[in-house]
Amino acid sequence: MADQVALRSRPGWALSNKFLVPLFLLLIAGIAVRFLAHYALPYFRFNPNYFQEYWPHRARLVFHICGGILALCCGPFQFWTGLRQKAMGLHRWTGRLYLVGVGVGTTGAFLMAVFTQPRNLGVALMVMATVWILCTATAYGAIIRGLVPMHKEWMMRSYIVTFGFVTFRFIDELPIAARLLGSYADRSANIAWLCWFVPLFAFEMILQARRIWSADRPA
Ligand code: HEM
Repeated sequence: MADQVALRSRPGWALSNKFLVPLFLLLIAGIAVRFLAHYALPYFRFNPNYFQEYWPHRARLVFHICGGILALCCGPFQFWTGLRQKAMGLHRWTGRLYLVGVGVGTTGAFLMAVFTQPRNLGVALMVMATVWILCTATAYGAIIRGLVPMHKEWMMRSYIVTFGFVTFRFIDELPIAARLLGSYADRSANIAWLCWFVPLFAFEMILQARRIWSADRPA
């Protein structure tokens, strides 16, 4: 089965894994920390002016944010190969916390999305929440059955979607977004699709390209 074919490493990849991956993870961590400090953590002051239209739904929003923070923070530990090799027990525990985070985050996302305006944004976020829980459940199902390569791939897909809300704000802040993606209503719904679909598709293309590149020609 294609999912179970582990990628053979080529010399160039070993180098890129050693330097480019940690560099990329560092960049991602920086963007995530900025998102948390700038957008998520201020909600814990429970200031009605900060919540604005979310104030009547503050309990469900804070519930959602707690799950999102847990998933966002536990995810990187799951991809840290050194830690996985040295402390499998810790990997399992951060993995369980990640599952709880996604479970709570998704429930909160649905509870919020039923009120989200405009409705095209609400629908886009409901689809995103569905993809979030399904990718995570598939990763969990795979590891329960001992399918390690498949588990790794689906964990990456899951984390790409977890990161989607961070990507959402990142795109929204780009000056070009306002020009290309329309009014606030149009823009937010457009970004709610782009923020997870584009990275997930790019990941899929890279994965399949590596698989094609490393496959042996049939004799
Ligand atoms: C990945 C799937 C996610 C979905 C589908 C989702 C969905 C939602 C929804 C429906 C809202 C309410 C939006 C509105 O009514 O205008 C919301 C708000 C919010 N979510 Fe998420 N969320 C996700 C992940 C995350 C994560 C990982 C975090 C990290 C902490 C997070 C933090 C927030 C924050 C801070 C808000 C308040 C709005 C803002 O200030 O940006 N979300 N989310």
